[in-house]
Amino acid sequence: MTQKLLVYVPPHPLIKHWLAVARDAATPSVLFRSAMTELGRWLTYEAARDWLPTQETTVQTPLEICEGTVIDTQIPVAVVPILRAGLGLLEGAQTLLPLASIYHLGLVRDEKTLEASCYLNKLPEKFDPQTRVLITDPMLATGGSIMKAMAELTQRGVDPALTRIVCVVAAPPALGQLNAAYPGLTVYTATIDKTVNEIGFIVPGLGDAGDRTFGT
Ligand code: PRP
Repeated sequence: MTQKLLVYVPPHPLIKHWLAVARDAATPSVLFRSAMTELGRWLTYEAARDWLPTQETTVQTPLEICEGTVIDTQIPVAVVPILRAGLGLLEGAQTLLPLASIYHLGLVRDEKTLEASCYLNKLPEKFDPQTRVLITDPMLATGGSIMKAMAELTQRGVDPALTRIVCVVAAPPALGQLNAAYPGLTVYTATIDKTVNEIGFIVPGLGDAGDRTFGT
């Protein structure tokens, strides 16, 4: 069987609600940030389902011993926010993954060529191959930025099968590139939008998530 990129759009009312708030051009920056935080939280909750490592144990309740499952804290968990906009999703993700290490990656697209370049890289030289990696970036448009991020991660030993991308709006060009290069990778997104326009904006999208998050 050929492996394919897995893309989940969780049918959750809170995810739908905060997506609609984020899409609305009338939403002010302060509320847009709340929407990003909430989307980061609920999409990470969904992404953690079959991704966070657990181990079996026994627990002594006040009445008897029973079986239990706890998070396996021996296996490293990393969150990689793609600056700037990925920072908006980080806060919500962090509330669910308090022990995760955060590795910032700063990428920016050239407004004309749409090519992504890296201006900050806090990734370690090498990741433990068992590391669970969660990437946060609210927009996957042409795919240039996420492909660059994935290249930086995989060349440092990250396994795409143990990686989850949390985004808000994903567009077909980015998903197509990820599918071709990283079968076995999984994306959690609030929606898959129809297209990317000639200036690199996702349509209908939510505008420029970085600008709207930081009001700049
Ligand atoms: C936006 C967005 C993604 C990228 C997606 O970042 O946050 O990282 O564009 O586009 P792509 O799939 O075509 O590469 P931007 O370059 O605007 O930087 P910012 O987050 O600092 O605003």
